[in-house]
Amino acid sequence: MDFPILLDSQSDTSLHRQLYDELRKSILSGRLNPGQRVPSTRALSDSLGISRATVTMAYDFLLSEGYLQSTIGSGTYVCRQLPDTLLRPATAKSTAKKQLESLTASKKAQLKKLSKYGSYLKERNWLGYGDQEPDIQFSFGRPDLSAFPMRQWMQIANQVAKKQDLRLLDCPSKSQGYLPLRQSIAAHLAKSRAVNCTADQIIIVNGSQQAIDLVTRVLVERGDSVAIEEPGYIGAKKAFEVQGAQLIGIPVDESGLVVDRLKMPQLPNFKLAYVTPSHQFPTGVVLTLPRRLELLAWAQQTGTFIIEDDYDSEFRYEGRPVPALAGLDQSESVIYIGTFSKVLFPALRLGYLVVPQAFAEVFARAKWLADRHSSLMDQMILAEFIKGGHLERHIRRMRMLYEHRRKTVISVLQEEFADTIEILGDNAGINVLVRFKKHVIDDSVTTQVRSYGVGLSKTSQFYLTDLPRNEVLLNYGSLTDEEIAKGVKTLAAVLKSKAGTG
Ligand SMILES: Cc1ncc(COP(=O)(O)O)c(C=O)c1O
Repeated sequence: MDFPILLDSQSDTSLHRQLYDELRKSILSGRLNPGQRVPSTRALSDSLGISRATVTMAYDFLLSEGYLQSTIGSGTYVCRQLPDTLLRPATAKSTAKKQLESLTASKKAQLKKLSKYGSYLKERNWLGYGDQEPDIQFSFGRPDLSAFPMRQWMQIANQVAKKQDLRLLDCPSKSQGYLPLRQSIAAHLAKSRAVNCTADQIIIVNGSQQAIDLVTRVLVERGDSVAIEEPGYIGAKKAFEVQGAQLIGIPVDESGLVVDRLKMPQLPNFKLAYVTPSHQFPTGVVLTLPRRLELLAWAQQTGTFIIEDDYDSEFRYEGRPVPALAGLDQSESVIYIGTFSKVLFPALRLGYLVVPQAFAEVFARAKWLADRHSSLMDQMILAEFIKGGHLERHIRRMRMLYEHRRKTVISVLQEEFADTIEILGDNAGINVLVRFKKHVIDDSVTTQVRSYGVGLSKTSQFYLTDLPRNEVLLNYGSLTDEEIAKGVKTLAAVLKSKAGTG
C-alpha cells in the first residue's frame, strides 16, 4: 500500500510522535477508513526510511488508544469504532450523530421532552431567587445564626477529624444514618416530645424537605389524594404535587386542623395527611389534644398515614407542651419528621424520619437511591454535639432570645395597629401571622415596603385558593429588636399612607 507521509527529521518533535499524529489525522479525516488494513511496521519503515522501532512505537500508541486494532496473523486495521467519535461527538460525524440527524424534528423533540416531574418544575417557579436581600427580612424563617455556638461546633469538628478515622471518608454500609446520632435523637425525642421510638426506626435525612420527598416517593402514587392544611407549607405541597398527588386543603381554625372536614363523605379516601400540629405553618395554631386524638382515631379507622412535620416545636413560650402526635399514636399511623434547620442552622441539612419499624428498611433503601446517605462527618459532629449537652443548652438559650423578640414583635404590632389586627401563632416558633381587619395587603403593599428595605410575605402563597388574604407572616427569629421595630413601623407607615390616599 502506497501511503505517503511527510516526516521532518529536523523537527523538535520526535519521529514516532510525528508519525502518530499523521496516522491519527488520516484516520480521523477518513483518509484511512474504519476496518482498513494499515501497512505492516516493516513495510512502513521501509517506505518512509525510518527505523522499524519508530513505527512500532507510533502503532503501539494508536493501538492503546483504540485507533488501531491488530489480529494475530492477519495484520493491523483501523478500528471500526473510533475513540474520538465517542469523545467529540459534536465535531466528528459519529454513528450516533448520523442516526440522530436522520430522525425527524418531531421525533427529536419527543426525545428531549421533559418528564411530568420536569414539566411541573418548568412551569412553576415558586422560589423567587434573584432579589437582593432587603436590610430587614421578615420573609424567611431563619434562626439567629449569629447566636450559633460556632466555636464549640468547630472544636468538636476538630476532635472528630483528629481521630483520623479513614472510615469517615468512605460511604457507610448503612444508608439509614450514623447509629450514635440515631440513638441520641431517640433519647432526645423521648425526653422532649414524648415520642418513644428506637434508633432502628430513625432514618437520617438532609432536612425535612428530603423527609417529605422520601415519604412521597415511598407512599404516594400518581392520582392519590393527599390532605394538607389550608393554609399550609409550600415545601410539602410542591413535593406531593410534583409526584402527581391530588391535594385537598383542610381548613385550620383556632384549634388547628378541622378534623371533621377530613370525614366529609364527598371527599375521596386519603393516602396521607400532612400536618404541622405543634405550630401550624403558617398560622402558628397548636392542634389541641382532643383534635389530636380525633385525628389519630380517624387515621386508625381509615388506614391513612399522618405525616407529622415537627419543625420548630422546641421553641414554645406559653401553655403546656402538647405531646407530639407520634407520642400519642397507638396504631403506627404516624410518620414523624424532625429537623435541625431551626434549632441549629438550615445549611446543616440534617433532619430525620421516625417510621414504623416495618417501614424502616424501605425508607433506608429510598434514602440510598436518593443520595446514598447524609454527610457522615456532619452526623458525627452532631452526635457529639448532642451527647455533650450542647443542643439542649443552645435550645434553652435560643428560647430566651426568641421569647424576648416575640415580645418585641407583639408590643410593636399592638402599638402600631392596636385592635385592627389579630396576631396568631405567637406562643411558639419564630414567626407570627398578622391578620389585618381593615387594611388590604396586596402586592403594592409588599412592593412599597420592600422599597424601604423591608422584605415581607403575603400569605396568599400558602393557600390553594387564590383569594385575597389580608395577612402577613413575620419571621422574627434572626432580627434584632431595632430591626423588628423598624420593619413593623415601616409597614404601618405604608398602610397608613395608603389608607389616607385610598
Ligand atoms: C413547615 C416547615 N417544615 C420544615 C421546614 C424546614 O425545612 P428543612 O428541614 O428542609 O430545612 C420549614 C422551614 O421553614 C417549615 O416551615
